Amino acid sequence: GDVAVLVPAAGMGVRLGPGGPKALRLLGGEPLLVHAVRRLALAPSVGCIVVAAPADAVADVAALLEPVAPVTVVAGGATRQASVAAALAVVPLEYEIVLVHDAARALTPPELVESVAEAVRGGHGAVIPVLPVVDTIKRVSDSGVVVDTVERSSLRAVQTPQGFRRDVLVKAHEAAVDEHTDDAGLAERIGIAVYTVPGAEAAMKITRPFDLAVAELLL
Ligand code: C5P
Repeated sequence: GDVAVLVPAAGMGVRLGPGGPKALRLLGGEPLLVHAVRRLALAPSVGCIVVAAPADAVADVAALLEPVAPVTVVAGGATRQASVAAALAVVPLEYEIVLVHDAARALTPPELVESVAEAVRGGHGAVIPVLPVVDTIKRVSDSGVVVDTVERSSLRAVQTPQGFRRDVLVKAHEAAVDEHTDDAGLAERIGIAVYTVPGAEAAMKITRPFDLAVAELLL
């Protein structure tokens, strides 16, 4: 494969409740990170996977992933952005396409990885998978009163993996001044056109207990 995938998993998420890093929360008896890495490795384009783990968990995460797929594990940084940068720094130079993927999107189908990679290969410097927004969206004031209704037809919900030409991702991160949860947002800031491909329902972010219950059913 000609594609490297970075998985920032160094955060200590609390939204699924207490009990350590979100990426290590169990789904069907296995950590979310294991599910995510297994599916990444099943994508034929993927030749390199780099996981950023909490600094004190690098050896444990490497041992956890060793039977799943060949993976490099590095210590993450203080922010998600720093963790992505740390992972990017160890990707061999032969990889010109780099994807960034949330471990929390543990059930992302390998086909989605392929379609993002294919769009980058086809000449787009930055690519994100998106889904239409199904709910009506309103802007609401601090006091709970509706300000206005946002036109829904042009809105999209953004998923991962987000794909980049390597030089685009490097430049986007170098130019970053504040913290972003979205790498494509950094590319946007430096004037890169961000192309969209259709996302996948199964690539849902498993963040809240409700999502975990849905994911258990999907497994
Ligand atoms: O906490 P939050 O949902 O913003 O984290 C998003 C992703 O970034 C998670 O996968 C988390 O593990 C990762 N992260 C990281 N390094 C940090 C903070 C968050 O890799 N210092």
